[in-house]
Amino acid sequence: MDKKTKTIALCGKGGVGKTSVSALMVKNLAKRKDLKILAIDADPAIGLCTALGIQIKKTVDDIRNDLINSIKKGQSQDKTATLNMLDYELFDALTEFDNVGFLAIGRPESEGCFCKVNSLLKDIIQDLAKNFDVVLIDGEAGVEQINRRVMKTVDYLIMVSDTSAKGVNVANTIKHLANDNKAVNYKNMGMILNRVRDEREVQNIGKNVSINILGWLPEDDLIREFDFHGKSFLDFPDTAGAYKTVNNIIQAMQL
Ligand SMILES: Nc1ncnc2c1ncn2[C@@H]1O[C@H](COP(=O)(O)OP(=O)(O)OP(=O)(O)O)[C@@H](O)[C@H]1O
Ligand SMILES: [Mg+2]
Repeated sequence: MDKKTKTIALCGKGGVGKTSVSALMVKNLAKRKDLKILAIDADPAIGLCTALGIQIKKTVDDIRNDLINSIKKGQSQDKTATLNMLDYELFDALTEFDNVGFLAIGRPESEGCFCKVNSLLKDIIQDLAKNFDVVLIDGEAGVEQINRRVMKTVDYLIMVSDTSAKGVNVANTIKHLANDNKAVNYKNMGMILNRVRDEREVQNIGKNVSINILGWLPEDDLIREFDFHGKSFLDFPDTAGAYKTVNNIIQAMQL
């Protein structure tokens, strides 16, 4: 069977709510028992795993560092053996429950150029992703990180922004970077506005950006409370407005 994996990547300025929205999306997707979901935490601070209460044994960067250390020690690098080892290590780094797998990328790269190692790892992440129906990536602000460290192409590139001009500017910049430099290849692009106080803010922003606004979340005490107490977003109530918005956005993607 040739099933096609759909990839969703969230990016945007620091602190605008990428992880909160990603965590609500994972909660939503986890209910789709007909789909296998891979959630990738591409934030060095492992925010998504924390928001979902997931314990991570090992990150992709830990695997990368082990390989680099063995290269530095001059240990022999038979290509097939290395690929098999990386494959095994990546599978071992995957935390799974029910229909959802979690993978954390880890810290940004250590010094020195190990492009071959990065590219090997990216290939292996892509191979792993083929076993899933939907891959969701909680990214960093720099969209090029997604291309360099996680995926070559995404189906949905989603900018998250608060209502500030700074947040919206970063979304616009990412759009131009993605288009001009092909920093990441994408098929669909959209924007989610977060911490909105009043629908007029959405209308005003809509006039100033050429990115399709998929939906918006209000300033929400429940999100604050979940973060404050470190509660898992998997337990976020289905009846909450923020969750319903995310549900509608996912439904519209027809995954
Ligand atoms: N709609 C909201 N209402 C209230 N607080 C929110 C909302 N969205 C996010 N927050 C709060 O804002 C903070 C940053 O959110 P979050 O971690 O999701 O952002 P981020 O974009 O992932 O940040 P980073 O760039 O550091 O990864 C958190 O403390 C979170 O609780
Ligand atoms: Mg985050």
